[in-house]
Amino acid sequence: MESFQERLSAIVARAFERAGYDGSLGRVTVSNRPDLCEYQCNGAMAGARTYHKAPMVIAQDVAFQLQNERAFSVVSAAAPGFLNLTVAPECAAQYMAELFEAERLGTRPSGEGSRVVIDYGGANVAKPLHVGHLRSAIIGESLKRLGRYLGYEVTGDVHLGDWGLQMGLVIAELRERRPELCYFDPYYTGEYPEEAPFTISELEEIYPTASKKAKEDPVFSEKAHAATLALQSGERGHRALWHHILNVSVTDLKKNYSRLNVSFDLWNGESDADPYIPDMVRRLREQGYAYESDGALVVDVKEETDTKEVPPCIIVKSDGASLYATSDLATLVQREATIGPDRVIYVVDKRQEMHFTQVFRVAKKTGIVRPDVDLVFLGFGTMNGKDGKPFKTRDGGVMRLEVLIREIAEAVLAKMLESRELTQADVPAEELEEMKKTAQIIGLAALKYGDLSNQASKDYVFDIDRFSSFEGDTGPYILYTIVRIGSILNKYRQQFGSLPETRFAAPSSESEKALALVLSRASEAVEGAWAELAPHKLCQYIYEVSNAFNKFYHETKIIAEPSEEKRAGYVSLLRLTKRVLTEIIGLLGFDAPERM
Ligand code: ARG
Repeated sequence: MESFQERLSAIVARAFERAGYDGSLGRVTVSNRPDLCEYQCNGAMAGARTYHKAPMVIAQDVAFQLQNERAFSVVSAAAPGFLNLTVAPECAAQYMAELFEAERLGTRPSGEGSRVVIDYGGANVAKPLHVGHLRSAIIGESLKRLGRYLGYEVTGDVHLGDWGLQMGLVIAELRERRPELCYFDPYYTGEYPEEAPFTISELEEIYPTASKKAKEDPVFSEKAHAATLALQSGERGHRALWHHILNVSVTDLKKNYSRLNVSFDLWNGESDADPYIPDMVRRLREQGYAYESDGALVVDVKEETDTKEVPPCIIVKSDGASLYATSDLATLVQREATIGPDRVIYVVDKRQEMHFTQVFRVAKKTGIVRPDVDLVFLGFGTMNGKDGKPFKTRDGGVMRLEVLIREIAEAVLAKMLESRELTQADVPAEELEEMKKTAQIIGLAALKYGDLSNQASKDYVFDIDRFSSFEGDTGPYILYTIVRIGSILNKYRQQFGSLPETRFAAPSSESEKALALVLSRASEAVEGAWAELAPHKLCQYIYEVSNAFNKFYHETKIIAEPSEEKRAGYVSLLRLTKRVLTEIIGLLGFDAPERM
């Protein structure tokens, strides 16, 4: 459906035309001066030169035309030529009623027929999922949901790091520990066991040990490189072992991602792109894009307008090995062949920007992707601790995701108990279990909102205490608002047997009207967040909705309102508010509990 702003703009545009001006000048925006009016139009200023008239004269002409317009209760021209507009309460109510009937908060399915791949998550196999991958998962998941909401055919691809040196490190370390395993016997021709020869906890210990060892011991490092090469060239035992590592690791990753409410359509990785490399490299060579430089094969990607040097993209190293860029290019070859996306969005640490600049330029220049494919790098900043340095555990290690999630849930539980002046010992076991479950739901919201409410590209300070607060710009505050509305509606049902039929009354107080006007911007908030790939805009919006609602709630007797019509209006507004909040937190990737 049309947005409220579009509706108002159309009315003002017609007034411009009736007054003899171009209708396109009639664009209405939310007022910069909420103390003066709700909406404004600056068209008179824009038209002054064309019509050789003072802006104020044009504004007055248009204001005159709007005199009897039912949509506005006040229209005035203000120096030097603003049109200040106050919406008629009935007009706001009418829009609420339409919004209530509309699907998907009145957004338009603008994405229909368009395919988008979102490359996010990016976990590395055999390494524990740590907070460094958290942002990618959280932001990517939100964008996936947002894109789908607007009708895009979105494919989420986790793009695992499953092919690099870390695999060789793990294999080399295993070989030192258990040289007797059949995987290392070059004469072994039988089937390999189905069971992996290690568990996930061993695997997680093996990688850091091996990585440390390789840094200190050049002989071991050499072995790890050799194992990587053996794997990549298809040696049978190495392959079999790699499959085990992948299986064990992916099972664990899936568990962790699902704790985060994050899911992927494709569990592809760098290894899946590997088969596309030889052909791609041959083509780049034959078509003259790639040339030898110091023994390596490179493609030039610098452009005249560059302000910063963009070095040539290395496709094959002098020792014949392929690189991260090769893998990402081959992945694009694969995506073209299997999906044919109109857009590919990479949600990756912003420190990888240069890498993606190079990859995108090669892909475009050499026709790996069609010319109109939109390749987007959405670089995110670092999650820092309170000390301003990248977030670490108390003992200085990288914090495991499950530990982080647990700690947040614990902080939330503590707050819940505190607010009721209770300790764990005061609560019956069953009830405590219930509270813990709720704390988990709220904890996830605290974590995700804490992340998503920052502009993705900025670094931010991870502060459990602040994120889990029930007040202020936090996930728990938004949930609290939703739960509060739910409980008012329940109370209403208890008292009156059922909810009244949906009927929006013209707002009769300032706070009620303010809430209605914020709600009227729902579709714009959602569409705008997608247009800018900016989930933080959704957070800003629901924070505004929550504030508007709570103000209204504190100033209004809802259930005790004697007029049936007014009461029905309130309930309708409550239901719409709840829906707007609930749908948008769904887009952010978390849910509200029943109670708090
Ligand atoms: N595995 C990579 C890392 O941990 C992130 C992968 C990002 N996606 C990509 N197509 N390169 O840094």
